[in-house]
Amino acid sequence: MRTVIFTPTGKDGRLIAALLERAGKPCHSADTFLQLCASIEEGAGAAIIAEEAFAHESIAPLLEVLQHQPPWSDFPVLLLTVSGRVTAESERLRKQREPLGNIFLLERPLRPETLLSTLEFALRGRQRQYQIRDQIRQYALAQEALLRSEKLAVTGRLAASIAHEINNPLEAITNLLYLMRCDPSPEQMNVLLSEAEQELARVTEITKQTLRFYREPSQPTETDVVSVLDSVLKLYANRMAAAGVTVERELRTRDAFVLSTPGELRQVLANLIGNAIDAMRGGGRLRVRLSELSSCSFASSIRISIADNGSGIPPEVLPSIFEPFVTTKGETGTGLGLWVTSEIMHKNGWTIRVRSRRAPGRSGTVFSIFIPKFDAPSTPTAHAASAGARD
Ligand SMILES: Nc1ncnc2c1ncn2[C@@H]1O[C@H](COP(=O)(O)OP(=O)(O)O)[C@@H](O)[C@H]1O
Ligand SMILES: [Mg+2]
Repeated sequence: MRTVIFTPTGKDGRLIAALLERAGKPCHSADTFLQLCASIEEGAGAAIIAEEAFAHESIAPLLEVLQHQPPWSDFPVLLLTVSGRVTAESERLRKQREPLGNIFLLERPLRPETLLSTLEFALRGRQRQYQIRDQIRQYALAQEALLRSEKLAVTGRLAASIAHEINNPLEAITNLLYLMRCDPSPEQMNVLLSEAEQELARVTEITKQTLRFYREPSQPTETDVVSVLDSVLKLYANRMAAAGVTVERELRTRDAFVLSTPGELRQVLANLIGNAIDAMRGGGRLRVRLSELSSCSFASSIRISIADNGSGIPPEVLPSIFEPFVTTKGETGTGLGLWVTSEIMHKNGWTIRVRSRRAPGRSGTVFSIFIPKFDAPSTPTAHAASAGARD
């Protein structure tokens, strides 16, 4: 760290420079006031300034440099004062130097040891400031790296969740194509083709939806839970038949309308029912129940519960099932279904609950979701009016 010396009368400057050189302290002299300011800005350890420098020149440029220091910096100035009596001039100089900040006042005539030990002290403080600067820089770099890796993680999850979600409709299309081969009659073809088209539309919807999920909020619309539920059960019908799973559907209410974006409710139900079927490899019973919960103080909600008598969730996995990439299905699982589900829940302010038991002969899992009820108007005219009002 260099020390800058500025003594306009010259003689003091040469003596001080010689003293510092002998003590092994790098230094250089500034010839003008502006040179002094430039040296400080370039980076110096301390400055030694004779106070008479301010007798004929304004202190403003030096103040400017010192006031614009970064937050970690408090540049030390050793000011060699004009000794002697208090005069109007000495008072003016005193007032002028007040805002300089980190100042060490040294009265002349100077003892070399006093100058050296004061400079030593000032340089040690400056060294500390540089250490703080380096720590702040390292911290900023680490934070940047953290942000970058978080962004990467989100991108990875996004890609994986799209892959996971389009798997269901692709599976359905494969099944539909198989059915077309088995029964190529025109009527059957028409039905199956339109179902395949719907599944393809879902793929498009899911990719758009997942991308939007991270970008902009999408507009929820009035959605009939019963019809979404039925379409998901239909989607899995073949798989359930193959696995020996029977379905019990209990609709305690038929008037179950909620606000949801087109694919989100379907995505949630498909994930939960898909998992339930996975848990009943050796056959079982899937119970889906729809009910309305009303209370006098809160708005009504729709409860959808999906219960299976499958394997149950291992207790050590249960606390983390909603985290991404948590799966007990090895190669065939992604561990993303429940994570996507919980993100959708959280985004819409819906609630999900899970209860699971593993005991011989009494294993099973129940997922319940609660969604605020949307009161569907009864007449078509009122329906149109309310849809218009919501837009
Ligand atoms: N109905 C269920 N019965 C038993 N285990 C379940 C059930 N639902 C979820 N799980 C457990 O939660 C894990 C995470 O589920 P999910 O996020 O959908 O990922 P994946 O289905 O790809 O494994 C599953 O691997 C499974 O261990
Ligand atoms: Mg799953």
